[in-house]
Amino acid sequence: MNEQNESFLFLLGSSRRDGNTEQLVREAAAALPAQTSKDWLRMSEHPLPPFVDIRHEPAPVYETPTGVEAMLLERTLAASHLVFAMPLYWYSLPADTKRYLDYWSAWMRVPGADFKRRMAGKSLSVVTTVSDENRSVATPLIESLRLTADYLAMQFRGAVVAFGNQPGEALNDASIVDRIGALLGAGVAA
Ligand SMILES: Cc1cc2nc3c(=O)[nH]c(=O)nc-3n(C[C@H](O)[C@H](O)[C@H](O)COP(=O)(O)O)c2cc1C
Repeated sequence: MNEQNESFLFLLGSSRRDGNTEQLVREAAAALPAQTSKDWLRMSEHPLPPFVDIRHEPAPVYETPTGVEAMLLERTLAASHLVFAMPLYWYSLPADTKRYLDYWSAWMRVPGADFKRRMAGKSLSVVTTVSDENRSVATPLIESLRLTADYLAMQFRGAVVAFGNQPGEALNDASIVDRIGALLGAGVAA
């Protein structure tokens, strides 16, 4: 894959605008090559209805997604690199992002979407912010995304865990933006 068709989808999972995670990722993304395509989604601005598991209903019908769901599916498939950028909420993923992930289960079964095959080979990176001085509390979040990437034969690129609570606080770590930049840069072909 060459640089022309590198495309990042930044999935912003905080329930507040311009929080720590978003600030960090926007700064790091600004250093990506100008020709790199960058798409931004604030998950809280695109609410999905509660996910319903119909897998074991008699003759389940997976309708072609419409509305917000169709938009999210299309932008997910259009990206070559998915960057999950979200705070740690109760040692896990914030609910909007988790619900979006639950929809992947349905998209795998939508006739014609070819979701599983088209997700294979995309990369997945994680940027998260914690307020606990022990950054290993983010391990459950990171591992759930690593395993999800493995399940879909995606390439898990790694994770950066920032520390902060008040918006802007995470930027006090002088090396954090560079570390996120390195994580993103690992997804850009030379
Ligand atoms: C609902 C909720 C749950 C949280 N759970 C945790 C947690 O389990 N561990 C932790 O270290 N911080 C937790 N925090 C603190 C946030 O991770 C922290 O404030 C972070 O800076 C928020 O990121 P943001 O500025 O990108 O929104 C929680 C915050 C909220 C609002």
